[in-house]
Order: sequence, then structure tokens, then C-alpha cells
Amino acid sequence: MKKVFFVLFLCLPLCKGCTDNGGKAIEAKVSETVSQMTLDEKIGVVHAQSKFSSRGVPRLGVPELWCDDGPHGVRPETLWDSWAAAGWTNDSCTAYPSLTCLAASWDRDLALLYGRSVGEEARYRKKNVLLGPGVNICRTPLCGRNFEYMGEDPYLAGEMAVPYVKGVQSNNVATCVKHFALNNQEFMRSSINVNISDRALYEIYLPAFKAAVMDGGAWSVMSSYNKYQNEWVSHQPRLLKDILKGEWGFDGAVISDWGAVHSTEGAAWGGLDLEFGTHTNGVDINTANAYDAYYLADAYKQKILAGELPESELDDKVSRALRLNFRTLQGDNCGSMCSPGHFADCRKIGSEGIVLLKNSGVLPMKTEVGKVVVLGENAIRPMVVGGSSSSLKAQHEISPLQGLREAFPEAEVVYERAYVGEPKLTGNYNYGLYDLSDPRPADVILADALAAVQDADYVVFVGGLNKNKEQDCEGKDRLAYELPYGQNEVIEAIAAARPDMIYVNISGSPVAMPFVDKVGAIVQAWYLGSEAGRAIADVLTGAVNPSGKLPFTFPVALSDGPVKTERQYPGIQDEEGNWQVYYDEDIWVGYRWYDHVAVEPLFPFGYGLSYTSFEYSDLRVPGTFSDGMKVRVRVRNTGDVAGAEVVQLYVTDEEASVDRPVKELKGFGKVYLEPGESREVEFRLNRSALSYFDESAHEWVAEPGAFKVLVGSSSRDIRAEAGFRLVR
Ligand code: BGC
Repeated sequence: MKKVFFVLFLCLPLCKGCTDNGGKAIEAKVSETVSQMTLDEKIGVVHAQSKFSSRGVPRLGVPELWCDDGPHGVRPETLWDSWAAAGWTNDSCTAYPSLTCLAASWDRDLALLYGRSVGEEARYRKKNVLLGPGVNICRTPLCGRNFEYMGEDPYLAGEMAVPYVKGVQSNNVATCVKHFALNNQEFMRSSINVNISDRALYEIYLPAFKAAVMDGGAWSVMSSYNKYQNEWVSHQPRLLKDILKGEWGFDGAVISDWGAVHSTEGAAWGGLDLEFGTHTNGVDINTANAYDAYYLADAYKQKILAGELPESELDDKVSRALRLNFRTLQGDNCGSMCSPGHFADCRKIGSEGIVLLKNSGVLPMKTEVGKVVVLGENAIRPMVVGGSSSSLKAQHEISPLQGLREAFPEAEVVYERAYVGEPKLTGNYNYGLYDLSDPRPADVILADALAAVQDADYVVFVGGLNKNKEQDCEGKDRLAYELPYGQNEVIEAIAAARPDMIYVNISGSPVAMPFVDKVGAIVQAWYLGSEAGRAIADVLTGAVNPSGKLPFTFPVALSDGPVKTERQYPGIQDEEGNWQVYYDEDIWVGYRWYDHVAVEPLFPFGYGLSYTSFEYSDLRVPGTFSDGMKVRVRVRNTGDVAGAEVVQLYVTDEEASVDRPVKELKGFGKVYLEPGESREVEFRLNRSALSYFDESAHEWVAEPGAFKVLVGSSSRDIRAEAGFRLVR
């Protein structure tokens, strides 16, 4: 009788009306359920039961909790106990553009659309938790996972993460914001200890997580692999308990990264709630009770029974796991998968995030031409596979070559390889025996490309990285800032014959471009997912006027950047052999560094061209700031095509008692303008936009005195500025 009562209770109040983060019905249900659970049942919900799920409470009608990657689409099913593909035929998805591309759109509405759209797919696949978004700061161009994150600036990453979280969760699918925190490199990611000042932690590395939790209302957070204060983050009470759950009031669940837990005491006390992916359990040989060997399984139970660990701590974990679970049981939508609308979202996000880096007049391409030569391995290479956990099985993926063929239906579109990179695909879910090897020697491959370009109306070279190991991939950082596979030489050879060549760079990280002055145009195209080729063709032909802006700086050379010494990257071993990395550059990350040392980057943060031009005028800033302030500026489209401008607002503290960045991004807005049209863009600044983190007082401080607002088209293209004073 009791059981029936519970099942009904679960379904009724939770399905109606509890749409807020902490609905009363959910809270009542959480405490009631916990009070009914046996110790074994409690232990059952705080650790995995398979690669991607944790147990429910069958007796009480609590369903299992299913997680899945994330963040660019819904990962295909894996086997119960292993990473291997389950081989289902109904689990292909829409592959969305990488989060770096989303960040490059600087468009909050698009981030909401992205979240809603991918959340619908997760819901349709009956996932409770989508493992993303990733908001780790791009500290070095070499980090293998930059492509899964949102750039180098904490404000931009936070502003873009919040609508993504809200969009996904509007489907009653939880986001799991990752990787909390300080997982800024893949090298030694499971053992490296990050040494960092509190100021850099609070000003640079935490704000995007804080925004996702406090403004986005994220229902779960993933604890990262690395260590902080010589403790694995999954056992790290300062990060998980004091900051996340304490200072930010996070009431959701902390899920460990897969295999990021290392001890029962650590996981019990440190603030972790759910343990996933632990390797110490015999899962690989599939023993019957493998998951009982998890740190938060039998060992935890025994310690509670022996009185060595308190059950109250377990109850808190169980409450959080149930709250997470119950939140995702709300609503009656079933989601949807691979709909035309989702592919359209994908194409829109892709084309809005593409960044035009150089244009000597060759773009936009005219479509009434006779011959287009497309070069480069990335013009034909599937890109939604690879990169490790974010690898997807896309229902379709339009290659750049295919996209250009569609866009030039009347032209002869010729393809030549020009270089051979990596013939195999890693993370290959559905490409069968895909083989990109080419029997011709490299000089013949190049000679064939050179012969083809002679009489072409346009030459488009699609190169860059490819999500293979060490080329934008989880688990292995890049080894060099330069493009791989001898591409620089190949590009220069082709550009010598065709200086009007259009170079399309596919990557999720900054790369060196020594050929910048030798080509006609450069387009930064990221990993764009299912509709990649169409989004690229849209921008190249001007069907979409580019409006993306870089979410991170492209330095000329790696040595120009803030991370210079071995101890800063990749880290060094201490006397006990433990890996230590020192964030000696402190808060001087990304453009903050290039401004600080006055070094000209190849392409600055916030930079991106358009096929039209914009004029800024009438910057209006009140003379004094007390509680808050509105800033207005007028922007006019002065060209002859419609387009969008990302108006960026930076703040300078002119009288600080501590070293502060030359400027920091504190606002942005994207405006679409017809030719000749103008609009006023309004920003609201509050005290936090003026503050720095005072380590000794452990608080944010806005010092009275003179400040400046800088408004512009990139961090290095400031069009208007005005001073104001902060009064007490
Ligand atoms: C990655 C996570 C991912 C998890 C599950 C880990 O190796 O770091 O980002 O969500 O695997 O696939």
C-alpha cells in the first residue's frame, strides 16, 4: 500500500506546477523519500550503477538517473560497463557547433536557443543530465579542451553559459557545469595540483561557474580531475563546500568527473554527492558487483556502520541526488530529436559564430562563377567525431566541400587534398571503415593542388586542427601552437600562386598563422557540427554577414603569451614527485595580459570583421556612479548591406590601489542593423562591474574614484570612451 502511495505522490505533484529550482513539492518529496530509505538504498543513489547511470529506489518509485555527454549534442549510447559504443541504431543526434563557436556569437539569445534545442534532444533520449556546459577559462592555446569551453574571459563565458543552462533546463534536463574548477590543461589532468592566488581564482576562474549556478540555476556541477591545495577537487571542501555550496548557495548535486574520486573519506567529507566512472572497481572485467567497489559504495557503508563517518553527511548527498533527479521529472514534454528545426538552429548558431579575421576584398564570394577549387583535408573530414567524450554520432554532417557544392550549383567545384593529415578518425561511432589515406607522395599532392588553382575563380583552403589526439582533443594537450601536417608550407606555396586564396581555419583554439599577410581572406570556422558546410558557405557567399567575434586572443607566437615558464605550463614535479602547476601570471590571462605588457596580438579578443561597417556615436555615461549606472551608445550601419555588430563595453579603474587590468569586459550587446539604420545600445553596470577581489578581506571591493567606460568593436578597437566617478 505504501509503495503505491509513493508512486502516485511522485508523479502527481512533480509533474505539475513545480517548475522552479527548489519547488516546495520537490523539497517535501526529497525529505519524505530520504526518511523512508534504508542505508543500502541511500548508498545506492550516490554512486554509479553503469558507465552513465546511477541507481534509483525501485521500492519507492524513484527512477534511475541517466547522464550523458554533452555539451555539443547527445552522445550515442555506450555499453553498460564500458566506453564502447552500444551499437544502437536509433541514437544519432543533431551535432551542434562547439561551445567556442557559441561563445564567438556573443549572442545570449542564441545561447538560449542552443540550450533549448540540445535539451530537447537530451529529453527525447530520456537523459536526466546533460554533461555540460564547459566553462573552464582558456589559459593557454595548447589546452586540448579549449574547443569545449567558452573562451578566455570570465564575463563572456558566464553570460553565455547562463542562457545555455536555462535553455537546457527548460526541458527538465539538468545541466552539469564542468569542470569545476581549475581544469585548464589536459596534461597530467588527473594529478596536477594548481597553485593559484585567491584573486585569480575569484576574478578569472570562478565567475563563469558562479553565473551558471547563481544566475542560470544549474542543477548539477561536475568536480574536475585536477587537484587544488594538494587535494583532488572531488575531495576539496574549500571549492565544493565553502565556495560552491556555501558562498553561492548551490543546492544541486556535485557529480564527480568520470574517475575523479580517489578515497572514501575524501568523497564523504569533501562535498561530493555522486561518484561516477571510478576505475578501481573491476568494471572492465564486468564482475557482478563491480560498482559495490566504488568509494561511495560498500566502503562508505561500512564506515558509516562502524561510526567512522556520519550518516547525516550521506543524507545530504542523497537529498541532493534526489533533488536533481526529481527536478528532471517535471514537465510533460517528450523532447524531440533530429528535427529540421534543430538542424536549422545548428546552421544559424554556426554561421553567427564564424569570425571573419581578414578580408582584402575577396569575400563575399560571388556565386555566378565558373570554377571554385576547394583544398585541404578539413574540407572533407568529418569533425563531429573525435575530441573524446564530446564525440558524437551525427545523423548527418555537411562537410565544407558539400556546403560549397550546394552554394555553387552552377559552378565546377573541384576538390584537391593539398596535404594529408591524419587518415584515421578517433571516436568514430558511425563512419565504418572511413579511410582518409592518400597513396600519392606529399609533393605530388601539393603539385596537383597547384595545378588545379591556376584557372580557378576562387580558391578556398580548409585546414586547421581536427580533434585527433593532440589536435583539440580531451586527454592530450596540443604539442605546438603551429598548424600540424606541414600546413604552413602548403598554404604559403598555394598563396604564392593565388594570393587571393581564402583560408578557412577549423579549430577550437588559437593557432599560429605566419601566412596572415600572404592570403586574401581568413575565416575562423570552429567545429560547426551537423550543418558545418552550409554555415561556412553562408558566410563565404554573404548569405549571412559575419558577426562573430573572437572569444580568445590569437597571439602571434606562444611566447608572447602570459604562460611562459615550465612551472606555469605544463608544470613541474615537486620533491615527492607530485605534479605542480603555478598560475604565476595571476589575473593576467588573455587580453588582460596582452594589454598589460602592450604586446600586439595576431588577432585580439573580441575581434571580428563584417561585410559592412559600423559607426559609434553619442556615448552617454553619467558623471557619477553610486548604486548603478546606465551607459548608452548609438551604433549606425554605414555600409550597404545589413549586418550585426557586437558592441563591447570595457571598464578601466583609473585610480586603483592595486594593479588592475587596463580594461575588463563588463557588458556586450549584439545589434542587427539594416544599411543606414542606427540604434541605441544600452548597458547597465552595477558595483560588481567595478570591483576587484580583495584577498585579505575576502571580499569584492569597488574603490571610489575615477573610472572609464570604453566602448568598441573589439578589445583593441575602442571607438568611444568617457570617464565617471564612483562615489561611496
Ligand atoms: C570528461 C567529462 C565527461 C565524462 C563522461 C570525462 O573524461 O572529462 O567531460 O563528461 O568523461 O564522458
